[in-house]
Amino acid sequence: MNKIAEELNRYPQDYWDFKGTTKSGIHNIGKYPATMVPDMQYQLLSVVSKHLNNKNITLLDPFCGSGTTLVIAQELGINSVGIDINPYATLLSFVKTNKYDKADVYNAISTIKSNLEQGLNFPIFDFYNIKKWFRDDIIKSLSQIRHCILLEKSQDIRKFFWICLSEVIFKFSNDRTSTFKLHALPKQKINLIEDKCIEYFIKIIKDNSEHLNYSNTTSSNIIYGDSSSIINNKLKREFDIICTSPPYGDNPTTITYGQASILFLKWIDSKDLSCSQELLEKYTTIDKISVGGKKRKIINTKDIKSLQDFLGKISLKKQAKVINFFEDYYVSLKCMNKCLAKSGYVIMTVGNRSVDAVRQPLDNITIEILESFGLKLVSKFNRNILYKNSPLKLSLLKDKKTIKTIQKETIIIFTK
Ligand SMILES: C[S@@+](CC[C@H](N)C(=O)[O-])C[C@H]1O[C@@H](n2cnc3c(N)ncnc32)[C@H](O)[C@@H]1O
Repeated sequence: MNKIAEELNRYPQDYWDFKGTTKSGIHNIGKYPATMVPDMQYQLLSVVSKHLNNKNITLLDPFCGSGTTLVIAQELGINSVGIDINPYATLLSFVKTNKYDKADVYNAISTIKSNLEQGLNFPIFDFYNIKKWFRDDIIKSLSQIRHCILLEKSQDIRKFFWICLSEVIFKFSNDRTSTFKLHALPKQKINLIEDKCIEYFIKIIKDNSEHLNYSNTTSSNIIYGDSSSIINNKLKREFDIICTSPPYGDNPTTITYGQASILFLKWIDSKDLSCSQELLEKYTTIDKISVGGKKRKIINTKDIKSLQDFLGKISLKKQAKVINFFEDYYVSLKCMNKCLAKSGYVIMTVGNRSVDAVRQPLDNITIEILESFGLKLVSKFNRNILYKNSPLKLSLLKDKKTIKTIQKETIIIFTK
């Protein structure tokens, strides 16, 4: 038996639930949906990297989200590349892994604090429909913070400040945070919001600055874009480990990562973002360009039996969306296989969401696809999701039906 499988088999079944542990430190910076459990990533990567006969291990996370895996890789001295199609995710991953100079950060904090307290003149920021999402007094306070962030000369520090601003926006916007899709709060609730944006921003920059990376020099290269195109066109090397948690279905019907970040992105200056401004004009564009967002014909996945069985159990209308997702997903897995080094490992955490009340077996479909490429399954085990950083309901559909969050995840490990 493979040594990694042997070692993983020795863990008690509930070990991977990580009962009693919560996210802390740098992992708490920013606001991103469905982040991974840092302790789980730490343990998985420790076990796998220990068994690789290589001193300079490289890791790829093609769906890096908030960068949890990249931070853990850095802690373990593993150089990494992270890719995501959401510019807020890549900004957050950058801030969490970038090496900052402590004195520079502390000086920048005292400058921005005094600029905010002095009450400099500032322009009122605006974008289409801004008043739907922010009250007038909140717009004024956020504009003041935005103006002061722009006075900071260091781009890396501005990026840190934008992430802190996103936490202020999360707390003081009119968006109700009980779902990831944008929905305005009722008027009475909006009236109750107390404008403490500036005080809160000052608290957040101080608190978050305690957790930045001031010493670790392990490199983490964060790339904005579609992971398949980036792997095909930009990444010239092979990786020893590919460790990721992909989307579990198309964003609009699973988790709307784009909508959950769009209000933050609207306030961030374009020169500090890696995407085009066009991407941010509509609230829904990021989700539409993510895995499964475009119409696809069934080509690559027509012989994947576990997928075909599942398609047979759901309505025709839902089938079309599921096919869009799996055609893109197949290409992503193919690209991952292409850039995996010989004897390297793929570690994936996946969840089986429901479509038409039928569980979509993403775990078995992933296994079938990866095996069709010649990869060998090393280990598969489940964990219970005990602590959610997500609301109980993922999203509210037009017909007022809710989609419940997933209670279990599966970890699958492959080797080449
Ligand atoms: C399950 S989340 C990853 C969460 C991450 N592990 C964390 O701890 O935050 C999946 C991610 O895939 C990204 N994504 C979706 N389609 C993509 C694509 N075509 N290329 C790159 N990233 C994509 C989403 O933006 C989202 O951040």
